[in-house]
Amino acid sequence: MVDSLTAATQQGQSEPTSPRRDRYRLWQMASMIRRVRAPGRVNLIGDHTDYTGGLVLPMAINFATTLTYELTLGRASDIQSSNFDQNTSRYISAVEAEMREAGCDVPGIRGELSTTIPVGAGLSSSAALETALALAFGAPSSTHEERVALAKLLQRAEQRAVGVPCGIMDQLICLIGRKDHAALIDCGTLDVTHVRIPDGIDVVVRFVAERTLAGSEYADRVAQCALAEQTIGPLRLADIDAVLSIEDVTARKRARHVISENGRVREFVVALSSGDLTTAGQLMFDSHQSLATEFDVSTPQMDAVIDEMRRTPGVIGARMTGGGFGGCVVAIVERGVDIAGWRVSTADGASISE
Ligand code: GLA
Repeated sequence: MVDSLTAATQQGQSEPTSPRRDRYRLWQMASMIRRVRAPGRVNLIGDHTDYTGGLVLPMAINFATTLTYELTLGRASDIQSSNFDQNTSRYISAVEAEMREAGCDVPGIRGELSTTIPVGAGLSSSAALETALALAFGAPSSTHEERVALAKLLQRAEQRAVGVPCGIMDQLICLIGRKDHAALIDCGTLDVTHVRIPDGIDVVVRFVAERTLAGSEYADRVAQCALAEQTIGPLRLADIDAVLSIEDVTARKRARHVISENGRVREFVVALSSGDLTTAGQLMFDSHQSLATEFDVSTPQMDAVIDEMRRTPGVIGARMTGGGFGGCVVAIVERGVDIAGWRVSTADGASISE
């Protein structure tokens, strides 16, 4: 990992310098104002598949977290935030700790955080926060490989900060998102295929209820999938018929969701790419049904919103998105249809500017 201050010092050494001028250059580099922008995400299809190495199709969105900062000459950071809760400091410590454990020389920064991602809505405000911090702390991110490595580190930071055994989807899409595209991610191999969002549709996200994944429910689902895998092996490779051999009824239901959801992601990508929006929409409704009845992560309120959307002219498909237990639903709709919610657009992955 690059230590920005060390780099600054090395740059300074290429010209004839005096110790005083070196100190001045260092001070100049440190006091340069930089800005990191890290997007939130919405997942079009493929939920509760990432932590068993399955398929997901998220897109980075135009809601983002911004960290405006300068490097300090010490190691301590002073980061202010107007619209984050007390968890912010846990994320800062977790990102710093993971980066240090990975051998990075983490500099101190002085900065101000702000976000347009609604916190607690399931649009990955925490992944955006972690990513913004890591880039400000100098994590390498110029190549795709560096971004994948950083996503793994930040997944550990998330787990460390809130104790939730989350998958890698949120951190990875925040780093590798691409304008006009969703990303098909194979969470087993971490291969990424950018999938163009067709013209003529809007993506609408409707907030239903605040949620938190810090409770035990998410961890329970992870454990139930692991239990299913003890009988039928990796769910990412399993055949749907294999679930019949899982004795535990709950684990069997969870496995049925995961295996069928991986199939739906594949079919959705084909449908979207070939312009078959009717099939794509139906797959979203099917995904919601499976999350509600097999994976038990929806809520009556979310189910009611999906039912309403199913009856709304111009709605092509809709489903809950993200971890569930509240949060948001996502719909693809015919362009310009009048429907309540945020019309979100695609965004590039996190970036840093001066
Ligand atoms: C949360 C987690 C992700 C993923 C989704 C469900 O957003 O952070 O890793 O498991 O839930 O798809």
